[in-house]
Formats: sequence, structure tokens, C-alpha cells
Amino acid sequence: MTPADPVGVAVVGLGYWGPNLVRNLWETEGAWVAAACDRRPKCLEALAKRYPTIGLTERFETVLSDERVSAIVIATPVATHYPLTREALLAGKHVFVEKPLAQRSGECRELIALAEERGLVLMPGHTFLYSPPVRRVKDILDAGELGELYFGTFSRVNLGIHQSDANVVRDLAPHDFSILLHWLGEPIFLRAIGRDSVGSGQLDVAFIDMGMPNGALVHMELSWLSPTKLRRTVLVGSGKMVVYEDTSSEQIRVYDRGVEILEPQSFGEHQLAYRTGDILTPRLDPDEPLRLEMADFVDAIGEGREPVSSKKMGLDVVRLIEAAEMSLEFNGSPVALDTPDGDRRRSGDRRRSRGGMPVLDWHGPAQD
Ligand SMILES: NC(=O)c1ccc[n+]([C@@H]2O[C@H](COP(=O)([O-])OP(=O)(O)OC[C@H]3O[C@@H](n4cnc5c(N)ncnc54)[C@H](O)[C@@H]3O)[C@@H](O)[C@H]2O)c1
Repeated sequence: MTPADPVGVAVVGLGYWGPNLVRNLWETEGAWVAAACDRRPKCLEALAKRYPTIGLTERFETVLSDERVSAIVIATPVATHYPLTREALLAGKHVFVEKPLAQRSGECRELIALAEERGLVLMPGHTFLYSPPVRRVKDILDAGELGELYFGTFSRVNLGIHQSDANVVRDLAPHDFSILLHWLGEPIFLRAIGRDSVGSGQLDVAFIDMGMPNGALVHMELSWLSPTKLRRTVLVGSGKMVVYEDTSSEQIRVYDRGVEILEPQSFGEHQLAYRTGDILTPRLDPDEPLRLEMADFVDAIGEGREPVSSKKMGLDVVRLIEAAEMSLEFNGSPVALDTPDGDRRRSGDRRRSRGGMPVLDWHGPAQD
């Protein structure tokens, strides 16, 4: 392949989500969809009607040995992400794999090492990083408009759909964890409580609290049991406050509101002054996140760079999921996350004290 050649891509998994990836890749400059693969013939038939020139196969091995294919886009069930991605990297293909990168952080580390050894792009599909409101809030934060961040709240709740093979954290948190990491970086501790309210065998509600290095607090609310669908994030800073509501017609509102402590007039008497300034609704680009995501994947291959949704982001999201599950297992005990990545020790007594609270040292599950 010369730099000017378009990247030959194969899409694997053509159920609910895969056809959206095919549609966006089809329109991505610098890429051509050479092949598509699904075990279910009816998914292939549906695609053939729309894209008669794409080579179709039920066998993943056919895609691996196809020399026209230099990149594989995987949209299969979560349990298959690790084995399929591993085989694709071993076959020398660049890989985009839907979120989460894998089920365990040890698997993520192995995939990252493989990609690095072979000089291949490995990209997890954290689509929200490409959504115009999320990008706009990132710009607002990077410009320091909010001042010092005090706290943030993330709500992702709706009625259904109960999953049989994943709890509500694994189902819903990857989106908010990726947004949190993108905006604010890694928390230093986390604690989580949850319950299986209806007795389905899976947690259907979870509340996750996190502490950021600057002292800011983050609360995340996840549930399959809510009367209405809500995707709402509020960030409160010393300068301004921002509300991001994905389901609203005004997806971002920036409030010039806050509180200041005035100099005491007499001994010990602090006065608070509330500021209620303008509310701004920024104009957002109409770009489709998936189109931007596929373009970033293809450009990252051409330019030999890391995509915005990086492999480290993929690992960190899975680390946060595992830390939340560990805290859930210990009835909400805080889990310390500020250990250096790659510290593979498993602590003998995992409970120690921090500020009077028992804290679980988390070093991630040991490698198999
Ligand atoms: N980024 C997002 O917003 C978003 C949204 C929805 C789904 N997803 C992700 O997309 C992935 C797929 O979800 P879905 O809802 O489309 O699932 P789905 O069950 O509807 O489709 C998965 C397809 O993969 C096929 N498949 C499974 N194993 C295969 C194999 N070894 N070789 C070839 N084909 C195989 C199945 O036959 C099926 O058609 C999941 O990882 C999910 O997390 C992401």
C-alpha cells in the first residue's frame, strides 16, 4: 500500500450496530469497504441489497487472509472483542473494535502490547468522544472557562433493557467513563453501590462516586429502572457551570453563575455573594459522531498516529469498570486508583486506611 492508496477495510458483525459503521465507512475519504462478515447469512443478505460491490463472507478467517484488507472494524458481542481483535492484530491488521476494548484489563494490556509490537492502530469505539456537544464541553474546559472544577454529576438512566450477560455498570458506564476521562482525566479513587432491584440476577441500578486529583467530586447514576430516559451531565466550577443533556434540543447550556466569599466585614462573619449571569447555548456542528470516528480511524492509520479514542482510553475505561465491580463486591468501600499503571502486585491485605476510611488497593486483576 502506498500512502495515497485508500485503506481496504472489512466490517465484522452486521447485527444492530455494524451496518451504521459500514454506512459511515462507505462515505469516509481514504477508505474503501472491501469486505463484510457475519455468521448469520440473513445479515449478509440485508447488506448485499444496499452495497452489491462489498465481498461477503460468514467466515472471519476469510477476512484475515484477504490481502486487500488492511484494517478490520469489529462490531460483534462484547465477549468476542478480545479473541477477534487478538487474531486480527496477529494477522497484521489495524483494528477498530466497538467498546469496550475487552472484558478484562489484562486482555486490554495484551492487545495493546500486540498492537505496539506490530506498529498497528488499535482503536476502541468510544463514540461519544466524537459527539459535537462532548467536544464542545472539552474545549470549554480546556479554555479554563469553568474555573476550578468543584464537582460533576453524570446521569444515564432509562426504562430497560435488562441484560442477561452484563450488569448495569458494564452496559451503561463505558460511555460516561470515556467522557469523564476525556474531559477531566483519571480519578484517584472510586466507590460504588448498587442493587438487583427486580431480582433478575444482574444489578439494575448503581451509584458511583469518584474523587479527582484536584479534589473535585464526581457522581455517576446508572439505571435500567427510570420512568424517563435521561442523559444529563452537570459540571460546576468556580467560574461557570455547564449542563450537557444529550436528549435535549439545547444539548449544552453554559451558566455564568456561581458564588463568591466576600471579605469579612467583622470578625468571623463571611458573606456569600451569588452571581446569576447569562445563560449561553453554544452553536454545535451538525457532524455525525460515527462519521468523525471512522475518519479518525482511517486518518490515524494513514498518519501512523494515535486516534482520539486511544487504546489507553480503552484500557482505562475497563480499569474503572473493574474498580467499580470491586467496590460493589465490598459494599461500597473506596478503591484507590492512584497506583502506577503496570504495578502488577496483588496486595496481601487490601484494606488500609485513608482519611479514616477503609480503602481497597486496586492493582487490577493479575495477568493470566
Ligand atoms: N458505540 C455505540 O454507541 C454502540 C451502540 C450499540 C452497540 N455497540 C457495540 O456494538 C457491538 C455489537 O452490538 P450489536 O447491538 O450490534 O449486537 P448484535 O448482536 O445485534 O450484532 C452482533 C453481530 O455479530 C455477529 N457475530 C458474532 N460473532 C461473530 C463472529 N465470530 N464472526 C462474525 N460475526 C459474528 C452476530 O451474528 C451478530 O449479527 C457491541 O460491542 C456493542 O457494545 C456500540
